[in-house]
Amino acid sequence: MSGRTPDGLDVEFCRSQFPEIGNGWAYLDNAGGSYVPRSVVGRMVSFLTESKNQPWRHTAPGKLSGDRLDAAYASVAALINAERDEIILGPSTTANIHALAQALRPMLRPGDEIVVSQQDHEANRGAWVRLAEFGVTIVEWPIDPVTGLLDTEMLRGLLNERTRLVCVTHVSNVVAAINPVADIARMAHGVGAMVVVDGVAYAGHALVDVKVLGADFYLFSLYKVYGPHQGVLYASRAALRQTRNQKHFFYDSNFTAERLHPAGNQYESVAASHGVADYFDAVYAHHFRDNEPSLHERAKQVFALFAAQEQTLASVLIDGLRALPGVRVLGPQTGDRAVRMPTVAFHVPGRTSKSIAEALGASKCLVAHGHFYAPHCVAAQGIADVDDGVVRISLLHYNTLAEVQGVLAALRGILG
Ligand SMILES: Cc1ncc(COP(=O)(O)O)c(C=O)c1O
Repeated sequence: MSGRTPDGLDVEFCRSQFPEIGNGWAYLDNAGGSYVPRSVVGRMVSFLTESKNQPWRHTAPGKLSGDRLDAAYASVAALINAERDEIILGPSTTANIHALAQALRPMLRPGDEIVVSQQDHEANRGAWVRLAEFGVTIVEWPIDPVTGLLDTEMLRGLLNERTRLVCVTHVSNVVAAINPVADIARMAHGVGAMVVVDGVAYAGHALVDVKVLGADFYLFSLYKVYGPHQGVLYASRAALRQTRNQKHFFYDSNFTAERLHPAGNQYESVAASHGVADYFDAVYAHHFRDNEPSLHERAKQVFALFAAQEQTLASVLIDGLRALPGVRVLGPQTGDRAVRMPTVAFHVPGRTSKSIAEALGASKCLVAHGHFYAPHCVAAQGIADVDDGVVRISLLHYNTLAEVQGVLAALRGILG
């Protein structure tokens, strides 16, 4: 069918679902936040205009509101192969990790160790580093300064019987390499430690399966997965048993993930989150004839199409960047999907990243620059001006080859 990539994704169909696409900009800052499809906007509008009341179930309006919230929660849980009561939708990943750090603090004793990675966004560092105030030792897992990669063999040497937590990103929002979370979890569990995984830069590109990954806590942000500003926190049942309740006192004996949710739900955003599953279902129905009964399996097939398109685009982008004079691409030097996600940071010695991002903006290419809240990761790779940082071009399946070729052509003009 026309409009389909060789791998079968109908990119035009996907693009037609997003109201902001077609605004004249090449949107290349998807790691900052993806666009949202009409399904998400529609769910939010219907909640606010038809059921903006408390979900008390003894009235019809309350039941409508409650049913919508329950269905939204169920859809997010089903997507990532979790149970409904193993997840919360909180304000953001950063806020969710703060609450989690408070919830785990009582299990930590002076001299206990927490491993944090140098590759991580501050969301999965700062909250843990602050626990040093209570006598906990923070152990840094450094990256390779040239490749930006984390080495799991090095982690083995950092683990011991005092290690209580390993906090690591699934994919860095700067380096973009895919870390072997299941292996890391096995290694940590081997010394009796738990694992907190930041999946924010992964979840928009590939389907999360919390059971396969084996992390005790897995977090990501729906606003980078085609949804509203909401952070998803998954906690395994066993891990929940180790946490102190962060909600009201009458939740003390409730060992669902709700105990990690001091804020309570942002109803309209929770309701809108259901639109993410709607989008995957729309893409599935457009591309596949079979009728896979489980949302997780339908989304798996959809994400396989996305991955092929993203790999094609990332390969063209990375090869094109590497051919430009003076450009240093960070992270894996390949678009190979087994190795990295299509979030591509680069640096040009002698030029500010700000000036490059601004010049690209003048060509209607929306890209960002800076340290992206991962200053340790950027500095460790030898970028002297961390605030100016790197330029980042981050793609999703709905980007086109023309957009990638366009940004490369603009860069050729900017860099001479
Ligand atoms: C890799 C990564 N982790 C964590 C975060 C923080 O997410 P949130 O904005 O939901 O707190 C971000 C946000 O950019 C991110 O890119």
